[in-house]
Amino acid sequence: NLAGVDLLAEIDRLRKERNAVILAHYYQKPEIQDLADFVGDSLDLSRKAAETDADVIAFCGVRFMAETAKILSPEKVVVLPDLDAGCSLEDSCPPEQFAKFRAEHPDHIALTYINCSAEVKALSDIIVTSSSAEKILSQIPAEQKIIFGPDKHLGGYLARKTGRDMLLWPGVCIVHEAFSETELLKLKAQYPGAPVAAHPECPAYILDHADYVGSTSGILKFSGEMDGDTLIVATEPHIIHQMNKAKPEVNFIGAPGADGNCNCNICPYMALNTIEKLYIALRDLEPRIEMAEDLRVKAKASLDRMLAMAS
Ligand code: 13P
Ligand code: SF4
Repeated sequence: NLAGVDLLAEIDRLRKERNAVILAHYYQKPEIQDLADFVGDSLDLSRKAAETDADVIAFCGVRFMAETAKILSPEKVVVLPDLDAGCSLEDSCPPEQFAKFRAEHPDHIALTYINCSAEVKALSDIIVTSSSAEKILSQIPAEQKIIFGPDKHLGGYLARKTGRDMLLWPGVCIVHEAFSETELLKLKAQYPGAPVAAHPECPAYILDHADYVGSTSGILKFSGEMDGDTLIVATEPHIIHQMNKAKPEVNFIGAPGADGNCNCNICPYMALNTIEKLYIALRDLEPRIEMAEDLRVKAKASLDRMLAMAS
């Protein structure tokens, strides 16, 4: 029973007592973003996890992100407030099926989006995030054949942008898949001239209407530099919290789903983390991310290549 516990004060006390760092993704609830030591995109968060000298990493994001932190910083205790915080992209790519797909294409390397399990990372050659994918792809020789998974929309976007033909795994993010082109066009008609910023996890029929396509940190940078008074944001709407803080005078509107509002685009996995669960995770140092050492070492090789090629 947490009644009467001053959660924010207790989280602050525990983070000092445990020498913990609280990392949060931009899709977390505003109250979690505001108390985190660092808020970032997937690449920034991986770098922070690799560099921190804290003893404990409290990861407010989804499981593949906390796993990445553990892979890169095995000596640290890594806690995730809710272990059920998964990801539809990870679910779409079971390791056995991915291993079979790889075996069917022995002349291809596997360039894999970070939104996947540690097992799939271990089966991959190079990991990418949305903010590093283009830079990493540009360093792979043109004649090298590539499997890209698990996000077919990010893979399709990269293929169109760079002209590289890649074999795509058919996974999707349920959040970005839920945007409606019809509703987006209605919103654009309502706000003539308002730019659209979109995440590359969106389907092509949404990206076709975007003025800017990029990772969460890229979208935030675009919103900070734009001149207009309205921006339509086609990614998980909790990112708008950072935009409102930086530019309260601008009208930031979440792109709509089929029901005409952006509530169906809240990531149900990210939303599992709460202040209460974060407090319990810091208090009990549970639930923890644990992993077999041979799996960790294999998964680390593909992540290390990402960190080297993205820098
Ligand atoms: P980025 O923050 O790296 O753009 O990733 C978005 C995402 O969907 C994370 O789950
Ligand atoms: Fe996965 Fe999409 Fe949620 Fe990101 S927003 S964690 S890609 S389901």
